[in-house]
Amino acid sequence: MALLKIARMGHPILMNPAELVSDPCDPALAQLAEDMFETMFDAPGVGLAAPQVHIPRRVVVYYVPESRSNDENEADLSGVPPTVLINPELELLGDTTEEDMIYMREGCLSLPGMSGLVRRPKRIGLKALDLKGKIIERELDGYHARVVQHECDHLEGILYPMRMDDLSSFGYDSEMQPQSEDSEE
Ligand code: NI
Repeated sequence: MALLKIARMGHPILMNPAELVSDPCDPALAQLAEDMFETMFDAPGVGLAAPQVHIPRRVVVYYVPESRSNDENEADLSGVPPTVLINPELELLGDTTEEDMIYMREGCLSLPGMSGLVRRPKRIGLKALDLKGKIIERELDGYHARVVQHECDHLEGILYPMRMDDLSSFGYDSEMQPQSEDSEE
């Protein structure tokens, strides 16, 4: 296990699309995922994408703590255990109309100490592989959908400030009123 160095906004590794993983069962990938979890929990954060640790591959790790699970969805009340997504693909399930979108405050381990309101779809379809090469396919909503969308954006070279439509909510957490919706991803 090893703590990995996290790239911060401005580093070119965060601005480029990551490459597909050809062998999800590669033991080196399992080691990378383990190190990414250790780095994520140490930070602490709820998600981490491989480009954030200078590896340009389509790998994401995340979890949803019980306290952050979506209370509108009984099934998600217990949170989501630490999960690895390889070559994830997202599908929009709703529309991009107001009722299918939601604003939530996001943070990112690549912009430490900062956060901002980002508008994203409430519900998404996720398809990915796990470390055994098994297909993960499910519908996500609430905080779970939010975390996965944020992490998958990293694989496209997108950081959350690039998704913000109003930068007036962007800033240093230490200078803002305490928020209940912030998270470090
Ligand atoms: Ni992030």
